[in-house]
Amino acid sequence: CGIVGYVGHRPALDVVIGGLRRLEYRGYDSAGVAIANGGRLAVERKAGRLANLEAQLDMVGRDEFAGTSGMGHTRWATHGPPVDRNSHPHRDGTGQLAVVHNGIIENFAALRGELEAAGVEMSSDTDTETAAHLIAREYAESGDLPASVRAVARRLEGAFTLVATHAAEPDVIVAARRSSPLVVGVGSGEHFVASDVAAFIEHTREAVELGQDQVVCIARDGYQVTDFHGEPAEAKPFTVNWDLSAAEKGGHEYFMLKEIEEQPDALANTLRGHFADGRVLLDEQRISEQDLRDVDKVFVVACGSAYHSGLVAKYAIEHWCRLPVEVELASEFRYRDPVLDRDTLVVAVSQSGETADTLEAIRHARAQKARVLAVCNTNGAQIPRESDAVLYTHAGPEIGVASTKAFLAQIAANYLVGLALAQARGTKYPDEVAREFEELEAIPDAVRRVLSTVAQMRALARQLADAKAVLFLGRHVGYPVALEGALKLKELAYMHAEGFAAGELKHGPIALIEEGLPVVVVMPSPKGRAVLHAKLLSNISEIQARGARTIVLAEEGDETVRPFADDLIELPTVSTLLQPLVATVPLQVFSAEIARSRGYDVDKPRNLAKSVTVE
Ligand code: G6P
Repeated sequence: CGIVGYVGHRPALDVVIGGLRRLEYRGYDSAGVAIANGGRLAVERKAGRLANLEAQLDMVGRDEFAGTSGMGHTRWATHGPPVDRNSHPHRDGTGQLAVVHNGIIENFAALRGELEAAGVEMSSDTDTETAAHLIAREYAESGDLPASVRAVARRLEGAFTLVATHAAEPDVIVAARRSSPLVVGVGSGEHFVASDVAAFIEHTREAVELGQDQVVCIARDGYQVTDFHGEPAEAKPFTVNWDLSAAEKGGHEYFMLKEIEEQPDALANTLRGHFADGRVLLDEQRISEQDLRDVDKVFVVACGSAYHSGLVAKYAIEHWCRLPVEVELASEFRYRDPVLDRDTLVVAVSQSGETADTLEAIRHARAQKARVLAVCNTNGAQIPRESDAVLYTHAGPEIGVASTKAFLAQIAANYLVGLALAQARGTKYPDEVAREFEELEAIPDAVRRVLSTVAQMRALARQLADAKAVLFLGRHVGYPVALEGALKLKELAYMHAEGFAAGELKHGPIALIEEGLPVVVVMPSPKGRAVLHAKLLSNISEIQARGARTIVLAEEGDETVRPFADDLIELPTVSTLLQPLVATVPLQVFSAEIARSRGYDVDKPRNLAKSVTVE
């Protein structure tokens, strides 16, 4: 979910709606606002996208919402279906107090039971409403809003960002944070709280990152941070190093299309500065070189596309470092008692740095004494904060829900982790590390070339927009590319798609092949991986013989593949391990174009959210 709060000198409704627009990637099941105005709270909320809320506001008239403090919420539904009644803000019985919330209150059933026993009537199915009633009860006794929020925060279990406003206190907004994200925006004569700096970047780039279990009270002229017991606490100020244009579409129809175009820069920025004086460098390293040398096993834990970036990394790290690498879905990791000790390195890959599954996985790993290295795209997010080492991807803000530039940047960063390990362990000579880095540095240009030739993929996508299903095949590093290609198509085009290891096809999935079924095949280089290349050619002829329509991605000049390809997409020549960085791009374009042809919102696929802060 996305949260924004404001106290200042501007009309709060405009600021809050503007902020929600930039946070909509965090969920779009419903949206709502509460504005303090003349001793009462004006509240409006509506199921569906922000546009529905805006239409509703136009209908009821915006005069009531004239105050200069308020808050808003955009929801990704957890407790209760996405209907008006369950939309945030939630109020207490008197309508004087309102809260918005991101996360899950795990002990909400007990708290709700307690309130109901005391005669409180609930008007929604949400866990959030219990917090509204509890804070109101505290406030009725103490008349102190920050103290009331703190008292309730102490009682809540789970992960949450909770923001409260009271009709009688139009000059402040109070927010509490545990595990879910919350940043403060510091303006002149105005302050903000939000899930992400994007919400206030058009007003200020000065921000403060709240720590774990902290409460902030913002006012027009300042802010105060305490712990849950009211003791003053330190929060970390920082300046956002990108500006509004990075968070705008800049003439593109969708953010995702812009983000696909930005991939060469995302890669170049991720690599920049990470090789100096003949050595690969991480961003933050609280692990000693000796400990890095002692690593005897690597786990990569991540979700979604980030998980696929880990699958790619496995091939490189095992090859370069001679270390066993396991790649595991973060949501499975801690529940199966993985074997971890102080010589295990857990690489947590997360664009947002706040994915609850991944966060819990690293907490489990650290409790078992493993070292944790975060690969993250969001400065100062919770996952890097709780890690022993950090490598930031510098893809810039990614707004499209389906990951593109962050995914490529994750692959590049994972390779840097592999090189850093190889260098520490001495499994590669310094000149070999330097050569690998040089090859990586040539990739942004290769991606630029791919981008200049995607018109063919677009045309093909339009032809195939009505296909029932699409299969994706690959071997070696082409296998995770196939998985990512299939995930993109599911996410964006709601089309049944599956990725397979090409060699596995004959063991079952080949039964799916029927006349005309599109099958996308990622070919390895005929020179770099001659044996695999030959094997894949046989795999393609097996499916061709059964009537599939073959769409083959192959290295330019690979003539042997031509007879096997109904459609041939040429890729620039790059070294074997780096091929995913070029091969993924046409597949992103393919899915986006099918989604457009089908009339779907490419940036906001149904049911998804970009940053999932619940397990
Ligand atoms: C969500 C998004 C995916 C993303 C995954 C992991 O499910 O929809 O696109 O890959 O989370 O996100 P993270 O921020 O941890 O990389």
